[in-house]
Amino acid sequence: MFIGEGPGRDEDLQGRPFVGRAGELLDRMIGAIGMKREETYITNIVKCRPPDNRTPTPEESRACLRYLHRQIELIRPAVIVTLGATPLRELVGVNEGITKVRGQWKRVRVGDREIPVMPTFHPAYVLRQYTQEVRRAVWGDLRAAKEWLDHPVGS
Ligand code: URA
Repeated sequence: MFIGEGPGRDEDLQGRPFVGRAGELLDRMIGAIGMKREETYITNIVKCRPPDNRTPTPEESRACLRYLHRQIELIRPAVIVTLGATPLRELVGVNEGITKVRGQWKRVRVGDREIPVMPTFHPAYVLRQYTQEVRRAVWGDLRAAKEWLDHPVGS
């Protein structure tokens, strides 16, 4: 399960997450670990588009959190990949900078389940910062998530 921040303009128009430029890159990132978008579930912290694409406020995030928890309970993902700092902060409660914590496993409890969380950069950040270093980092993070999917340890 991939969790982003909130719908942008394209997503708002189509009513689907990650269908714009960041979504195209996310599709390619998923392809790079040998998966298809249809094999994943993609959603966002907030379900309505924040004006001018601003970061959702903590209040807005909190307002949507029960919806997200329910999505997680229904989907029962084996692994969650958070995209950027907002979902990591709002869902997992990790406030450290994404550059520092990306690639380090976290966990979140939702209902009766503890789910491993792999924090990585948001694809919109990767588009802005299209360096080999950033792309390698994201690829490594997603590979670690896929590795866990294929060979979960003690779960
Ligand atoms: N960015 C997000 O965080 N979510 C989307 O759905 C699209 C862009």
